Amino acid sequence: MNIDIIKNNLDEILKYKTPVYVYLYDVLKDRCAKMKSFKDTLEKEIDKKVSIHYSTKANNNPQIIKIVKESGLKVDAMSPLELDIDLKCGFKNDEIIYVCNNIDKEEMKLIREKNILPCFDSISQVKIWGSLFKNTDIMVRINPGIKGVGHNKKVITSGKKTKFGISEENIKELKEVVEKYQLNIVGTHLHLGSLFLNDSIDKYIKGVKEYLKIVKNNFENIKIIDLGGGFGVPYQDEEPLDFNILIEKLKKILMKFNKGYESVEEYKFEPGRFIPCESGLIVGKVNSIKSVMGKNYIGTDIGMNILVRPSMYDAYHKVSIINKKEGKEKIIANITGNICESGDVLARDRTIQKPEIDDIVIVENSGAYGFSMSSNYTGRPRPAEIMIKNGKIEEIRVRESLEYLEKNLLF
Ligand code: LLP
Repeated sequence: MNIDIIKNNLDEILKYKTPVYVYLYDVLKDRCAKMKSFKDTLEKEIDKKVSIHYSTKANNNPQIIKIVKESGLKVDAMSPLELDIDLKCGFKNDEIIYVCNNIDKEEMKLIREKNILPCFDSISQVKIWGSLFKNTDIMVRINPGIKGVGHNKKVITSGKKTKFGISEENIKELKEVVEKYQLNIVGTHLHLGSLFLNDSIDKYIKGVKEYLKIVKNNFENIKIIDLGGGFGVPYQDEEPLDFNILIEKLKKILMKFNKGYESVEEYKFEPGRFIPCESGLIVGKVNSIKSVMGKNYIGTDIGMNILVRPSMYDAYHKVSIINKKEGKEKIIANITGNICESGDVLARDRTIQKPEIDDIVIVENSGAYGFSMSSNYTGRPRPAEIMIKNGKIEEIRVRESLEYLEKNLLF
């Protein structure tokens, strides 16, 4: 079990101070292999090329990106830094797509310079691109109009209540802009939202169907059909996503689509979370223990600056305490961070081992949207990232120093 690996390597891990992000190489490799096998199987079933573009935003550590690359997967980037990391990790320009959201001309010029295929999600952005780079290939993001999928309303990215995509009623205007600048829409894009598991596969499929209908009725000669990310992982004790079921259901609709839409050459997927999430754990420590008006609080050094998901989405992460005294007594407590905000709560009303000061705290499933959403709020440094590979620890990102944090300050 992942926790046992942490326990067995604890002395070495603590050399990097707490909090620290720890990744298990074997778990990461396994999830990459699962994505590769999803790609290979679906490719055979539908007799079309399938590409998996790991969404760099989930975790942009170069050592993770390199493992993604050696596993035969591609990437998507959403910012100049992500693009630079992907390129430095050896991805070629045609293995990267740039999923744009309200970017400026400077960023557009960078994408063009690197010859990366952009995907736009508004007509005004297509207009700007067209005025800069006539006669080029682009992709466009479609909002299929129905509510997408996601673990929280903040991560549902299709339907009436989101800022994303171009809706069907605006496609006529899109085409006028495309014609004016002689652009070539080679692909369409869909991302319904983040984190669906088996109970939402049908919802995902419904969104895909609606999207394919819009593509078929409105566009000719699309070569790339992007179906986005969202592949979930269990955070509590849910069943893991069953890729056989997903493939069966996708196969049916994609085969049907292939028949009525001959130009399509490739299907793309953009999983982010699925790849690094379960390989990552955060190791921190207990700094305070108290009871306030009958409520227990365990104060740790894992604040919302280190893992924002619980305070931002009310997300559940498993938390365990490694108790030096091996005590068996349990308490019900709120486990909090060290940031001065009431919302800085890692876990609420958890039944957990009664801790002592300096006990170790472990947060699971922190490999995706952990470091990548971390911040320097209240001036705290971002921790180190380390990877356990073949029983050895490798440092894969150095902990930020005070000098680093003060580097751009003008006193
Ligand atoms: N493609 C696009 C266009 C996206 O916007 C995203 C994520 C992905 C792919 C990858 O989605 P995934 O497979 O990881 O679900 N911070 C949130 C998740 C927000 C994801 C936003 N978009 C969280 O921690 O749950």
